[in-house]
Amino acid sequence: MSTTHRVHALLAAMTPAEKLGQLQIVFRPSSTDAAQLIREGIGSVFWPRSAAATNALQRVAVEETRLGIPVLVGLDVIHGQRTIAPVPLAQAAAFDPPLVRELAALAAAEARSGGVTWTFSPMVDVSRDPRWGRVVEGFGEDVHLTAVLGSAMVRGYQGTDLSAPDAIAATAKHYVAYGQPEGGRDYNTVDVSEHRLRNVYLEPFRAVVAEGAASVMAAFNTVAGRPVHANRHLLTEVLKDEWGFAGIVVGDADGVRNLLPHGVAEDLAHAVAQAFGAGLDVEMGGAPRDLDPADLERIDPARLDDAVARVLALKEALGLFDDPYVDPARERIEPTDAARALVRRAAARSCVLLKNDGTLPLRAPARILLTGPYAESTDHLGAWTQSFGAHAGSIADELRGRLPDAEVSVVPGLGFLDDDASGIADAVAAAHECDLVLVLAGEPSALSGEAASRSDLRLPGRQEQLIRAIAGTGIPFGVVLETGRPLVVADWIDEAPAVLVAWHGGTEAATAIVDVLFGDEDPAGRLPMSWPRSVGQIPIHYAHERTGRPASTGGTLTTETADVGLDGPGNVHEKYTSKYLDLGLGPQFAFGHGSGYATFAHGEPRLSGSEVSPDETVSLSIDVTNTSARRGEEVVQVYVEDVVASIAPPVRRLVAFERRTLDPGETTVFAFGLGREALGFWAADAAFIVEPGLFRLHVGPTLTSTQAVELRVR
Ligand code: BGC
Repeated sequence: MSTTHRVHALLAAMTPAEKLGQLQIVFRPSSTDAAQLIREGIGSVFWPRSAAATNALQRVAVEETRLGIPVLVGLDVIHGQRTIAPVPLAQAAAFDPPLVRELAALAAAEARSGGVTWTFSPMVDVSRDPRWGRVVEGFGEDVHLTAVLGSAMVRGYQGTDLSAPDAIAATAKHYVAYGQPEGGRDYNTVDVSEHRLRNVYLEPFRAVVAEGAASVMAAFNTVAGRPVHANRHLLTEVLKDEWGFAGIVVGDADGVRNLLPHGVAEDLAHAVAQAFGAGLDVEMGGAPRDLDPADLERIDPARLDDAVARVLALKEALGLFDDPYVDPARERIEPTDAARALVRRAAARSCVLLKNDGTLPLRAPARILLTGPYAESTDHLGAWTQSFGAHAGSIADELRGRLPDAEVSVVPGLGFLDDDASGIADAVAAAHECDLVLVLAGEPSALSGEAASRSDLRLPGRQEQLIRAIAGTGIPFGVVLETGRPLVVADWIDEAPAVLVAWHGGTEAATAIVDVLFGDEDPAGRLPMSWPRSVGQIPIHYAHERTGRPASTGGTLTTETADVGLDGPGNVHEKYTSKYLDLGLGPQFAFGHGSGYATFAHGEPRLSGSEVSPDETVSLSIDVTNTSARRGEEVVQVYVEDVVASIAPPVRRLVAFERRTLDPGETTVFAFGLGREALGFWAADAAFIVEPGLFRLHVGPTLTSTQAVELRVR
């Protein structure tokens, strides 16, 4: 964003107090308070819930303040505003960047029609601890997937012109490493090496900043002892100086005030001085105004002007100086048919088939029982859905509508969190009267999201008991899991013939689940996070570094697979290898796991050359054939293994993927260009390098079923 003539002229005309006002967004005030705050000079507000109310606030800003500067209107539009898309973790499971872009564009169009100009999304925190409830808001454990989908989301929100009537400014959050709090507890400490910061946590932010994200939100956590809100190295040296980020660094809610309990500021003035000195541009606070003109003396005037210029430049890019109003008659309050169709397709594409013995897709059963807390629940919207009237239907209603000739019984048996298992007997009795049972289980939306960490990741309440009781009947059954995070399913998964993960799918979740159950859509999503066998394995992720004492049994990707590039030198006694005494190695289901209803054969992978120089791109291709009688979708994933490097490399690293639809019998070529970005890593002193030597490229439909080709870098 370049600083224009208008911005310069305003800056020159502003008093110190007017400047200070531009540097604050006040956290969710009432409309009356917001109007008064704007009169007093506040530059940004949270969305006052309608186009008309937003216009009223803009009118106060334009007509009742000396310089008539319009306000930025912020809102957490995380996965839709009126039409709710699947939660971001579910979107990640679709492995489909164009879909993520389309969903963000829909959310932006709805939000901007009501006057919202600034969303606090996407969350691109790489998350490797499923106890942390906010894993639901991001794209999971993988750096590449997070970077690609975060960029797609930014493109979807912002389009090519922020002043367009369907564009809003995106915020990449929470910068940085918020996804790895100690113990998985929200807001907790993060301590991370420069090596991991560069190669894991910073990388998606670098990508979305390069994509043009208009703002970046500072994270609540410390990094190496320094809270990010006061971390000059991260906010200024890396983000602004090194990456050339010209947008706004916004604080998280009360993040500046939180420097007091963090123990690095003696009072609010001290906190404010540290935060703005570190590179913060807008403070999100506080009650009601955290910034006092007296604080100005503590902030370098050039730094103050830089922050104000960034805010004004964004207002200009959004076209607010030319027209800050929206047409209330065009406010999009209800989902359109097209919006519903899009989120329905998205919810289906997000589904992951964990296992299937052929029970799915269902073949029009005559008598079917729906049991479990999700049978009649409408809690499908997921975390971060604010109360703007969005709602979803129930699976029971949807299924009744689709099977008018079947006998559909609905006996939930228990609630999500119930400790009372007495209703399970009724479900079992009903099961005996049916040909097929669907157990609709999971976590309600409130169990994931902000401040929703869990220490036990099994299904809450008595749901596992219900599944085992249904298994005990011998009646064919399938399990659908709705969840905002990976769950521990070890105690029952072997007893279930078919398990589908549907996450929290949004407005059309119930319709999409039924589409998938009956095979109208292919559940070809893949897991964006490892599903652990036990909480004791956490943090768990596939791209772990190689250790000096890898276990030679089990392997770290699945218990069945030893050959995952981890075989030790053979001279270490098995007892002294990196494993647990009481648990098989590897997760229950690895990152990238999933299948679909069709079957595919993969040919031999081919490389355009077996040797490249560090700056060259090599092309990797593979023929894939749909060997089934049905149309289906395959997700081909490419992982790099750097065989010997100057730092211990991860065992595998996703570098490319593509999802495609294939007709029965069709063969198609998946081709991937792999260059510097795929082969290199961040070494010391922020240098990105590609080291000469041997690489293996692993390609296949899941992480654990790949074929390898070798590539030498000269
Ligand atoms: C969250 C942010 C969010 C902000 C504003 C905070 O508590 O951490 O992700 O954008 O609130 O609602």
